[in-house]
Amino acid sequence: MASTILVTGATGTIGSEVVKALAAKPGVTVRVAVRSAAKAEKLLGANVVPVDFDYEKPDTIAAAVKGADRVFLLTPFAQNQVDLGKLLIDASKAAGVKHIVKLSAVGADIEPGIQLGRWHRAIEKLIEASGVAYTFLRPANFMDNFIHYYPPAADGNIYLPLGTGACSYIDSRDIAAVAAAVLTEDGHSGKAYVLTGPAALTTAEAASAIGKASGRDIHYVDVPEAAASKGMLEMQMPGWMVDAMMELHGIVKAGYASATTQLVEQLTGHAPRTFADFARDRAAAWTTKS
Ligand SMILES: NC(=O)c1ccc[n+]([C@@H]2O[C@H](COP(=O)([O-])OP(=O)(O)OC[C@H]3O[C@@H](n4cnc5c(N)ncnc54)[C@H](OP(=O)(O)O)[C@@H]3O)[C@@H](O)[C@H]2O)c1
Repeated sequence: MASTILVTGATGTIGSEVVKALAAKPGVTVRVAVRSAAKAEKLLGANVVPVDFDYEKPDTIAAAVKGADRVFLLTPFAQNQVDLGKLLIDASKAAGVKHIVKLSAVGADIEPGIQLGRWHRAIEKLIEASGVAYTFLRPANFMDNFIHYYPPAADGNIYLPLGTGACSYIDSRDIAAVAAAVLTEDGHSGKAYVLTGPAALTTAEAASAIGKASGRDIHYVDVPEAAASKGMLEMQMPGWMVDAMMELHGIVKAGYASATTQLVEQLTGHAPRTFADFARDRAAAWTTKS
């Protein structure tokens, strides 16, 4: 069945992988929502077309969803993400979009939970109330965070306040494979899928895998919470973002982020990548100077 799918966050970690996974599906036109045409260039292909899209410019949202059958909704890590999400949900409903697949987060349904989860749940509730069919993807922390947010420093240390807490990190490509399946198949309406990697590992184990893959001497250094907050503030991160990150780190440190599910394999037919797989495939990220 021919279908046009709008992918938001298309230039980011998850969205760019969703675009790749969808582009391989027959009968799909992938509409990549981008703030800048230049950034879209490396995503384009025979069935991949760009469309101007900026959450801060509602006109672009209405134009981008027009004629789309399904929407992959990803909101950025912004303090007003619920308002941004609402704009896209309202525009999708008005345009007759048939299904919204929302990238949420594990724990979004826990009350009172943490700020990041509450924002995701608030957007989920807006989607539920919209009457548009939906599927929520609630992934664990991304393995890719060890590239984008906390790569090893020049001295080979990964500084994080995670103690010995283990986390069931997931590879962005596995989240994207699930998203592509859910966006192109029937039978997922009204479902919320908690997506994890195959096993939980401590930060020391993650550091060891990164060291092995990159040929560097990489170690985890457990940082006290106060020092971690101070460091992020000194890097000019806004206070609300530091607070949200520290809450998230606290969940991992307390050992609450270690549960695993079998859903990646059930929904895609392949086992989720291990952290060693991820580290091997992405080793260049830690060996090439940026
Ligand atoms: N990291 C984790 O471990 C984790 C775990 C679970 C859930 N999540 C959730 O995953 C989401 C983030 O996904 P990600 O890491 O793939 O994101 P990302 O790599 O940070 O990319 C953000 C994307 O949003 C776009 N964007 C930002 N502001 C925009 C605006 N005003 N209008 C239109 N597009 C805009 C960016 O476009 P530009 O290229 O133009 O900036 C980019 O494509 C968040 O909702 C987060 O809560 C993260």
